[in-house]
Amino acid sequence: PPTRQFLFNVEWKNVRRLCQTKSLLTVNGKYPGPTIIIHEGDNVQVTVNNRVAENTTIHWHGIRQLRTGWADGPAYITQCPIGAGKSYTYKFTVIDQRGTVWWHSHFSWQRASVYGAFIIYPRMPYPFIPTPVRPDIPIIFGEWWDEEVEAIENDMMLYGGGPNSSDAYTINGLPGPLYPCSNKDTFIQRVEPGKTYLLRIINAALNSELFFAVANHTLTVVEIDAVYTKPFETSAIMITPGQTTNVLLTTNQIPDSTNMFVMAARPYLTSVFPFDNSTTIGFLKYESSNFEKKKQTSMLVSVPPPPYSLPQNLPPMEDTGFAMRFLNGLRSLASAEYPCRVPKKIDKRVVTTISLNLQDCPPNQRCKGYRDKRFLASMNNQSFIRPSRSILETYYKKLRVGLSLNFPEKPPHEFNYTGVDPVTENMNAEFGTKLVKVPYGTRLEIVLQDTNFLNPENHPIHVHGHNFFVVGRGFGNFDSSKDPSYYNLVDPPERNTVAVPMGGWAAIRLNADNPGVWFIHCHLEEHTTWGLAMGFIVENGPKPSQCVLPPPSDLPSC
Ligand code: C2O
Repeated sequence: PPTRQFLFNVEWKNVRRLCQTKSLLTVNGKYPGPTIIIHEGDNVQVTVNNRVAENTTIHWHGIRQLRTGWADGPAYITQCPIGAGKSYTYKFTVIDQRGTVWWHSHFSWQRASVYGAFIIYPRMPYPFIPTPVRPDIPIIFGEWWDEEVEAIENDMMLYGGGPNSSDAYTINGLPGPLYPCSNKDTFIQRVEPGKTYLLRIINAALNSELFFAVANHTLTVVEIDAVYTKPFETSAIMITPGQTTNVLLTTNQIPDSTNMFVMAARPYLTSVFPFDNSTTIGFLKYESSNFEKKKQTSMLVSVPPPPYSLPQNLPPMEDTGFAMRFLNGLRSLASAEYPCRVPKKIDKRVVTTISLNLQDCPPNQRCKGYRDKRFLASMNNQSFIRPSRSILETYYKKLRVGLSLNFPEKPPHEFNYTGVDPVTENMNAEFGTKLVKVPYGTRLEIVLQDTNFLNPENHPIHVHGHNFFVVGRGFGNFDSSKDPSYYNLVDPPERNTVAVPMGGWAAIRLNADNPGVWFIHCHLEEHTTWGLAMGFIVENGPKPSQCVLPPPSDLPSC
């Protein structure tokens, strides 16, 4: 297979949005960063030159990294950061994966601006009809802060409060005309009438799940997290941070005199805390004549005059009903060519709570959390602390310092999701770096139980190094004597990030067939910062082909 090489220079760049210029951390001066396009089976080499004074790492979100866990990227989990002025080349092969994933910095809150699309062309033709036009222009949602994200993160750590909400949502880095000074910072996708397009949608927002719709158009979901699905027609999509969704869109509507249709993204959130409840819009522009020629000059297309009405098919912000109907409509293709490899039996079940916790404020400090306390977050009441050296290295070199492999496999006490204020119970989270260790080939089930009263919202839980199958989901408490009998073991959706419903649970199954150390965490950055994370170690198997490859010689050390 060919080797595709890419160069990522991590550097500051002045970027102007919302009436002001700000220095933004970028890759190659681009915001969003460059799109990586490869073919299934390719070897990939990305050389990251860190040209700033901060540490950095890059994570290839959704790439399985079979036996190459060293290249996964989360700081202090699989590698030490790439220090100021240093370089590191990520090397991996993309095996048996096709579709849209993405990459982002996995150090601190850098992914606020250090992210981009990662497109894997399939070896075989698309299994859906008709074969779509591929503009290969991803639609990446993000969040823009006027303030430095580093300062926001520091403030959270110091005072234990929540982050300030962002100042805009963005489509491909552009807020759109509903925000101040943003008319020319508007995403416009040019299309020809009467064609079917493949849109590659990525949610790179730091802290917000989003609804997305295109006025008058139906979307047909055909792939989620780089796995084909049964084609599912929907008026809108719900997408959590970390997820990707490929949809087909057919340009079969009659436009008005502007030839434009509004596309819009806004949060799906029922949080009681303040958050950015604004909406980003862009446009789909129908163009028929000289399309090929005009493609080159797409920047000259300008925004139609206001007023802008939002798509009627865009769900209201608190529409949990829509979110659940949408998620329940997603099914694996489960065809002869693309079989569903869900484990029908399991070797181990881990049930873990997902909680926001409170902690007493240190003496003489003013905390900005809730009831004058600090926020924490935890899984099974373990608030994850990132170690000071890479866990993979610690494990591989058998150093075993500061690592415990005894992450509790059950919640510490009975929990009851019936409306009792659990704030007092949530005061006793423990700090640590705890992981679950499983032998190679373990068929693992993880039940993720939300217990979160403080900030009721979905939690997008992301698993590194493995895809999993979402076999069940429900509201209230998971009941191990009843719920598993309703699991979908025929065509459950396969993905890498699952939305655990607010006040409910999700059950996922995976084949632990990738040796290494793998991070599991909430993809809402604020929650990861508070400790909503754990990890699991998959041991080497008996055959050499089931062992993690040796670390690269240039791997950064701590
Ligand atoms: Cu997209 Cu651990 O991250």
